[in-house]
Amino acid sequence: VQVMPEIREYNGNTLSYVTDGEEEELGCKLFKKYELGKLLGYGAFAKVYHARDLRTGESVAIKVMSKQRILKKNLTAHIKREISILRQLRHPHIVRLHEVMATKTKIYFVLEFAKGGELFGKIAKGRFSENLSRKYFQQLISAVEYCHSRGVFHRDLKPENLLLDDDWELKITDFGLSAVSEQIQPDGLLHTLCGTPAYVAPEILAKKGYDGAKVDIWSCGIILYVLNAGYLPFNDPNLMVMYRKICKGQFRCPKWTSPELKRFLTRILDPNPNTRITIQEMINDPWFRNGYEEIKYPTDNEFEFKNSSEG
Ligand code: ADE
Repeated sequence: VQVMPEIREYNGNTLSYVTDGEEEELGCKLFKKYELGKLLGYGAFAKVYHARDLRTGESVAIKVMSKQRILKKNLTAHIKREISILRQLRHPHIVRLHEVMATKTKIYFVLEFAKGGELFGKIAKGRFSENLSRKYFQQLISAVEYCHSRGVFHRDLKPENLLLDDDWELKITDFGLSAVSEQIQPDGLLHTLCGTPAYVAPEILAKKGYDGAKVDIWSCGIILYVLNAGYLPFNDPNLMVMYRKICKGQFRCPKWTSPELKRFLTRILDPNPNTRITIQEMINDPWFRNGYEEIKYPTDNEFEFKNSSEG
């Protein structure tokens, strides 16, 4: 297959198994409620399995995290934050958190199952047309705007966190690194170094304090570039060279990119966070606006009503 070795290679570098001694296995029953299926993916702190709700037969994704690792890495506050954030988010393009369970050693997040798997699984087969790139970008921005307006920043937006449901619609997952505005330092900026090399904004690399919203916008720009081009805008086998390219914000678009998209990308991938495009400006951009319909989602009140009437 003619694909982007950069992306595959990069994925390969970030993967590491979590072993806790007791492994979940295919067909095992969790809390007499879910039957565990195959492993869907894994990261530094978690594994994600497909599972079936034994009562309804519904498919779910279960994210398993070892408590020991969480405690060792002092991530308890982090995880608690992830839980409270995810529980609040209700948007058609964000993976829903159904419930959280725990054993002595592990935490289980029961998530909405995104049947289509990783968006990048599809992109690895080539690149997307400008129209399809726009459709997914609009869905991404709709979800990001929803989060930002609630003071929630993802801070680790990258293709692995973008999934597709059975209608080929986008679902963002994994808010493990997201920060709520309460975590903001007295200077109003976030300070932790986190994120993924190819997708992190220049201000993070420069180890300056940063604005979570601006950082997410940058990552969205990288994602848009990759959707359209099929490869990364800033890349080099040598990480230092890649960082330098990111900080200069110099990139070239492939020949098939329209002038409108090129202009738009230049506004997003602006290394200066203060002049970088805002979400509101994005939504008003002629390239972005094309066919854009604001997504209507139920209000929290409507959800409360639905939940209580279900009894
Ligand atoms: N991989 C990680 N999270 C997932 C989810 N919610 N659905 C499907 N695959 C996933």
